[in-house]
Amino acid sequence: MDFPYKIYTLGDEKYLDGKVGWRCPSNIAIVKYWGKYGIQMPRNASFSFTLSNAHTDTYITYSKQPNGKVSLDFMFEGKENQAFADKITKFLHSISEYIPIVKDFHFKIESSNSFPHSSGIASSASSMGALALCICSIEAELFGISHDEELRQKASYLARLGSGSASRSLMPYFSTWGEHPKINGSSNLYATRTEGLHSIFQTFHDDILIVSAKEKSVSSTAGHALMENNVYAPARYAQANQRVEDLLEIMKTDNVDAFGKIAEDEAMTLHALMMCSDPSYILIEPGTLQMIKEIRSFRDRTKLPIYFTLDAGPNIHLLYPASVKGDAEILINDYLLPFTENNVVIKDKISNGPKRLL
Ligand code: PMV
Repeated sequence: MDFPYKIYTLGDEKYLDGKVGWRCPSNIAIVKYWGKYGIQMPRNASFSFTLSNAHTDTYITYSKQPNGKVSLDFMFEGKENQAFADKITKFLHSISEYIPIVKDFHFKIESSNSFPHSSGIASSASSMGALALCICSIEAELFGISHDEELRQKASYLARLGSGSASRSLMPYFSTWGEHPKINGSSNLYATRTEGLHSIFQTFHDDILIVSAKEKSVSSTAGHALMENNVYAPARYAQANQRVEDLLEIMKTDNVDAFGKIAEDEAMTLHALMMCSDPSYILIEPGTLQMIKEIRSFRDRTKLPIYFTLDAGPNIHLLYPASVKGDAEILINDYLLPFTENNVVIKDKISNGPKRLL
C-alpha cells in the first residue's frame, strides 16, 4: 500500500457527531497532465494555478452509525442527486482502506458550485477537493490531529483518487503534481505547493470564455486511456517534464512572455494529442480557433502579455497579469465575445486556495 500517512481507526466507544465545511476552488493546468497509469498516477509532472471564483462549497454532517458500510445522503444545490451520490459512495469506498472512519458514520453531504452547472467548467477538481478536505477534517477532529500541512497533503492524495487534477486544487497559488527529478519533494501520490516564484504571477487572471457549455463528447478518462497507444506518448511525457522544469525557472523571474509561450504551446499540444489519438477526436470548436487568432493578432499589435490556455474542452482561458486588466477587457469585449456562446465569460483569478467554512 502506498499510503504515506498513519491510519486512524475508531473504537466502538461513544456516540459522535458534528459538521464540517470547506470551500475548494478549481485549478487551471499550465503544463498539462494527460496520460495516467495504475491508480491515478500521472505519466508526467504537471503544474497549475489554483483559482478563486470557480469553487465548490461542501458541508458534511456526520453521525456515528454501527453498520460498517458507506452510508450517505447527498444534496446538490438543495436537491437530491442520485448520480452524484453513487459517485461519492464509490469514492468513499475506494478510500476506506486509508480512512476507515468513512464506514463508521452516516454522512449528510450538501454541496454547491459557484458556477452554473453545465457552464463548460469542469467541477471535478473543486468538488473532489472539497470532499477530501471535509473527510480529512472529520478525521482530524475525531483524533485530535492538528497538523495543517499534513491535512492539505493528505486531502490532495485522496482528491487524486477521485480525479487526478483535483490533487492540485488544494495548494495555495501554484501547485506541482508528479514525480520530477529536479523538484524536491515532488510525488505522483499528491501535489505539492510551489513557492519562490515571482510575485507578478500571483496577480494573474484567468477569464474563461465559454465557446460551448455542452458536455464533452470524449471524457477525460477516455482521453487519458487513448494516450496509452498514442505513438507520440513517450515524447510527450518527456516534453511535459522538460516544460515543467523550464517553466519553474522562468517563473522565478517576471518573464511573462516566456511563461505565456509555454502556456500556449501546452494548450496546442494537448489538443494535438487528441487529434492524433486512435480514434482521433476533436474537442475544440471553430470559435476556439477564431479566438486564438484574435488573441495572437491583438498581442502582435499591442505587445501586451495576454495569453491563452485550454482545458480538455473548447473554452478559452485568457491568462494575463493584473497590470493589463483594462486591455484584456478591451480584447474580450471588442474581439472575443462574438465567438462565445451567449456572451458568457467567467472571470477568475489565482488564489490562496481552499477555505474552511465550518
Ligand atoms: O483530472 P482529470 O482526469 O479530469 O484530467 C484532466 C486533465 C486536464 O484537465 C486536461 C489537464 C490538467 O492537468 O488539468
